[in-house]
Amino acid sequence: MIDKRVFATITGVGHYLPEKVLDNKYFETIVDTSDEWIMTRTGIKERRMIEDGATSDLGARAVLDLLKSKNMSPEEIDCIITATVTPDYFFPNTTCLIQQKIGAVNAWGYDVNAACSAFLFALESAAGLVESGKYKKVVVVGADKMTSITDYQDRNNCILFGDAGAAVLLEPTEDPKYGIKDSILRIDGTGRDFLMMKAGGSAMPASEETVKNRLHYIYQEGKSVFKFAVKGMADVSYEIMQKNNLTSEDVAWLVPHQANLRIIDATAQRMGLQKEKVMINIDKYGNTTAATIPLCLVEYYRNGKLKKGDNVILAAFGAGFTWGSLYLVWGMDNV
Ligand code: UT7
Repeated sequence: MIDKRVFATITGVGHYLPEKVLDNKYFETIVDTSDEWIMTRTGIKERRMIEDGATSDLGARAVLDLLKSKNMSPEEIDCIITATVTPDYFFPNTTCLIQQKIGAVNAWGYDVNAACSAFLFALESAAGLVESGKYKKVVVVGADKMTSITDYQDRNNCILFGDAGAAVLLEPTEDPKYGIKDSILRIDGTGRDFLMMKAGGSAMPASEETVKNRLHYIYQEGKSVFKFAVKGMADVSYEIMQKNNLTSEDVAWLVPHQANLRIIDATAQRMGLQKEKVMINIDKYGNTTAATIPLCLVEYYRNGKLKKGDNVILAAFGAGFTWGSLYLVWGMDNV
């Protein structure tokens, strides 16, 4: 018997947003900034902060929300892949902690570290596992507790980041109309110096000195990263349209990583997309790193805007540098 080819498609979504809100007014009280500067330079109004847990809690709660919405039990999950740059620990990996917290007793899994592009990279990996025919239910989590590595004395960076978790379920389908169709993924380690956490790893282990010099926080040369991000994200988003013969009419949604509204606008412009076709929630949550893209998918699906059959392009840019775009056709029945 010849095995039928299967395609990997998203069949479930879930998210978790901490209750505590940090608005721009709050930042006016802790650093020299203004609501006006933050809004015009970034598009961010508010972001969330988790007070009762770590990244695995953001991730686990997102998966539990997904399971509840699917009426599915955790034992059914074959594999979990967690995209994060803020693991609870160096080891064990955050996936093990999520697995234990949700009771996914039959799952294996691992973490993917690719900063803001990690959800895309994890989704690509998960699609491969599903398309191999070996795994039927693979959960991809994007979760980051960015407030744990944010320096609240650094006005350049502290206003940007927030905490969130979101997850999608990938399953096989024999229907070639739906699922993950294509991707263009890139890495370039020369970007290292512009966006990194300098200390705490094997290159510069933690010491009294590294703590004193505030080297365990996000270090970012914003202007340089901005330039690379605008070009990188716009290029791959345009290329994937060309490669798949998609016009701007054909694309229903761009789902961009939410780092800066100006980067998002530049990407949409390059693709020839109107604003109405761009998923945006940066105003409410800021940059939640690996969670931004799945968080958009959950919100836009649940509010009825993301519909079955929609051509969707995901795009991201992050530390490394890492970047990429992924084309999928949404296959979940409309809410
Ligand atoms: O997600 C991973 C990838 N990361 C990104 O994509 C982030 C990319 N970068 C950015 O989004 C932007 O570069 C930032 C939002 C971080 C900064 O915006 P910018 O327009 O590039 O501003 P800048 O860094 O060039 O700073 C302009 C001015 C500076 O003052 P001077 O030197 O011109 O006097 C900064 O000191 O704005 C000042 N500034 C602020 N002023 C008020 C920087 N941060 C603030 C602040 N409030 N929070």
